[in-house]
This record gives sequence, C-alpha cells and structure tokens, in this order.
Amino acid sequence: MRFDVLTLFPEMFPGYLGQSLLKLAIERGLVDVRLHNIRDWAQGPHRCVDDRPFGGGPGMVLKVEPVVACVEAVRRQADDPGHLVMLTPQGRRLTQAVVEELGGKPRLILLCGRYEGFDERVRQILKPDEISVGDYVLNGGEVAAMVVIDATIRLVPGVLGDEESSRQDSFAGEGRLLEFSQYTRPRGFRGHEVPEILLSGDHQAIARWREQERAARTRERRAGESDIAEDETVSRRGHAAQP
Ligand code: ADE
Repeated sequence: MRFDVLTLFPEMFPGYLGQSLLKLAIERGLVDVRLHNIRDWAQGPHRCVDDRPFGGGPGMVLKVEPVVACVEAVRRQADDPGHLVMLTPQGRRLTQAVVEELGGKPRLILLCGRYEGFDERVRQILKPDEISVGDYVLNGGEVAAMVVIDATIRLVPGVLGDEESSRQDSFAGEGRLLEFSQYTRPRGFRGHEVPEILLSGDHQAIARWREQERAARTRERRAGESDIAEDETVSRRGHAAQP
C-alpha cells in the first residue's frame, strides 16, 4: 500500500516512520510512504503558502495554488491517481469501518493542513474525502495523517506477524465490539488474580467468556453510540454468551 503525505512539515514524519511495525513494513516493501513538501509548489521568491483571509479574521489560510499544484503533481507520479484524503476536523469521523474502507485502497494521498484551514476552493476543485480523527482541533493534519497510516497498515496483509490479531482488535468484525481483557504472568499481583477460566485450558469456554466480555464492555463503555453495534447485537451476544 502506498501513502503520499502532502505537508508543510515533512520533518515531523521520519521519527514515526522509523519505528516498530511501520519500519518493518516499509523495509519489507509492504508499505511505501512518500513525503512531499507543499512549499515546493509555491511560487515567488518567498514560496509563500498562506495568506490573510478575505473578509478579515484571525490566522492565515492555506493558499489554493500551491496545494492544488502539489496534489496534481503527486497524483501524476504513479499510474494509480490514488484516493485523496484531506485531514480536517470538518471531515467524517474516522472509525474502524472508515479505516477498513481506506485500507482497501492501494494508494492514499494524505493532505495535511495547518493554520486556519484551506482556501475553500481546494475542496471545490479537488473534491477530497475529508476525514477527521475526532471532534477536537489539532495544530495541523500531520498527527491525523499518522493516525490514518497507523490504523490502515494494520490491515495490510503481512504487516502484523499474526493476521488473527487485527481481526481481534477492538471494533473489528461483526458488531464492532471492544476487545476483551488480556492477562499475562504473574497469575496474581497485589491481590488481583487472573480469571480462573483463562487457566482452564478449555478453549471453547475461554472463547465464550471472551465474547461475553466484549459484549459487556461495549455495553458499559459505548452504550448508544452509533458506530458501534447497537443494543440489539450487543445485548443479543451478551445473552447468547451467558452460561
Ligand atoms: N486537523 C486539525 N484537527 C484535525 C482533526 N481533528 N482531524 C483531522 N485533521 C485535523
């Protein structure tokens, strides 16, 4: 899977790209991340990328010309023009379902904003898929782009050592339930014991207990939220798993 990140701060990425799963995925050729500085497409001696808003108001607005020029040039760098994502708090909220949708694309072009936002004509001309990582305002789209990369590469075959682990993630699969609780050694710590059932060796019983945990946790922590399985699935599963 290929990612092209369009940003005014490409230096923010190498630390993140050079670590852990992502580093391995890049080394193994499963994921390709290319960074592009929007400023390289700005005109004039100062390569100015932002300007004051028409109509007044605080802050600066990202200019339409360098952004459109950068996106169009980067799209042409491969046969597949890619799926253009604009990171903005005004976008549709990123959920695991949206991650799955984005993870199915072979090439994502991630457009990161800064300042007060993009000139509206960027949207009118490029018609990006606008994505928000949550209802709060970040200083720019870079961290949001890292979130999109981080979540989608988990779905790229071969990136996780064990394919089962992304299927077991919270929100994965039918019902979009939270994950069950996990324990490792020691069996007891400060009076908190590992649930007996996990030591029983009875795999069917363990699977049932985990299903029940997922349903109960989701009910407790995400009741009434629209992206997560609505009461019907959660409570049906909860009941089905009762002994
Ligand atoms: N840029 C600033 N805030 C953002 C958010 N919440 N999601 C995506 N991009 C952003």
